[in-house]
Order: sequence, then structure tokens, then C-alpha cells
Amino acid sequence: MATVDPVPPPLLLEREQEHPELTLHRRTSHEVLADLDELPDAIVIDGDHNWFTLHEELRMIGEKAGEGTLPLLFFHDVCWPHARRDTYYAPERIPEGEHPEIGEDVGLAPGNPGTDPLGLPYPAAALNEGGPKNGTVTAIEDFSRERGGVRFAVVPAFSASGALAGERPLRRRPRRGSSIPTTATPSSTGSSGTGSSTSSPATAAPS
Ligand SMILES: C[S@@+](CC[C@H](N)C(=O)[O-])C[C@H]1O[C@@H](n2cnc3c(N)ncnc32)[C@H](O)[C@@H]1O
Repeated sequence: MATVDPVPPPLLLEREQEHPELTLHRRTSHEVLADLDELPDAIVIDGDHNWFTLHEELRMIGEKAGEGTLPLLFFHDVCWPHARRDTYYAPERIPEGEHPEIGEDVGLAPGNPGTDPLGLPYPAAALNEGGPKNGTVTAIEDFSRERGGVRFAVVPAFSASGALAGERPLRRRPRRGSSIPTTATPSSTGSSGTGSSTSSPATAAPS
């Protein structure tokens, strides 16, 4: 099993010590995916919750899968505040034109599409909710539309979890050793609908 985090939190460092079977890559998801020569059976994505980072992660995974079956994909934070609004660990990593207007040290409050100083504090987030290239579910829907033939389901518990899989049944593939090269180069950075599934990604996800 491998995990990816450019700035691993203390608990993850502890896990790395306790579990020799766990490989921790101290790089960004895009750096690791670019080096990946074989897709694992399943991937959990709970990294930088913004449209560009997630859409690019999905695009790279889709590209590696080609015409084959996608890995089973799990997501965290596919409801409020992330579903339709970007937040950023490192806004400097997001190219111009790939993000809405960003505010620093903003507060996010349920039901308020703008910002609220009394809201949940975020070091960097989109100033407004909604619209294109904004939010985790928007990224998953855009990818699902681009790829076709996938199902996306949301379980609305604690910022919510989601799963995405190809509609064609997953074929069980023989276990193989880890395929990610272990060049751990530390990078530069310094962190909420109804349980349903449908093949058209535009309807199941939370608004
Ligand atoms: C929402 S936390 C979740 C962490 C972990 N999954 C957990 O449940 O404790 C997001 C994590 O993603 C990491 N992160 C931020 N940008 C990343 C990127 N581009 N690639 C990979 N991980 C990233 C952060 O350092 C942070 O530890």
C-alpha cells in the first residue's frame, strides 16, 4: 500500500513507522501519478480539495487506464464546503485560468455562497461557491462526462465520501508488487445529499 502527501501530518508519519508495508511518498499527487507505470486496483483521493488538482488527478488516472477499467476511486469531502467551492493547500500550484477568484484567510458558512468572517476558517479558498472549475464534485462530474461509462455515488456522512467506478464490472487482476518508484523528494509546501448512484454524473451529486 502506498500513500502520497507532500507535507505528511504527524499521524501519517507514525503510521509509516508502524507499518513497513506502507510506502509514503512525500510528493504531490501529480508528481507521483506522472511516475506511475501501473495503476493499483483502488485509489483513495483526499488531498487538495480543488477543481484543478482533482480533475488533473482523475485525467492522469484515466489516461493511464486508457480503454481499460478504471481503478475503484474513493473520495472524501464531496459535500459542503468542498463540493462546489475550491480550497487550496498551495494556491501557487494552480495555473492561471484553472481556478475561480481566490481569497486568503476566508471564512465559509453553510448557505452563504460568499464568505463570512465567522465561518469555518480557510487559509485559501474560492471567494464564491458554484460555477465552472470550482469544487470537488464539479471536477468529478467534468471527468465523468469526459470519460463516460462511469458511476458516481455519494455517502453524505461527515463532509461526505464518494465512490466512482467504471460501469463495466471490475475484473479481478492478479496482485502485483508496488509499481511506484520510491524517489521521495520532499516538495516545497507548508489542509461534507443522499446515498445514491446513477450513471449520469450530473444528478446524484450534491448541489
Ligand atoms: C484533507 S487532508 C487529509 C489527510 C488524510 N487523508 C487524512 O484523512 O488524515 C489533505 C492532505 O492532503 C495533502 N496534500 C495537499 N496537497 C496535496 C497534493 N497536491 N498531493 C497530495 N497530497 C496533498 C495535505 O498535506 C493534507 O495532509
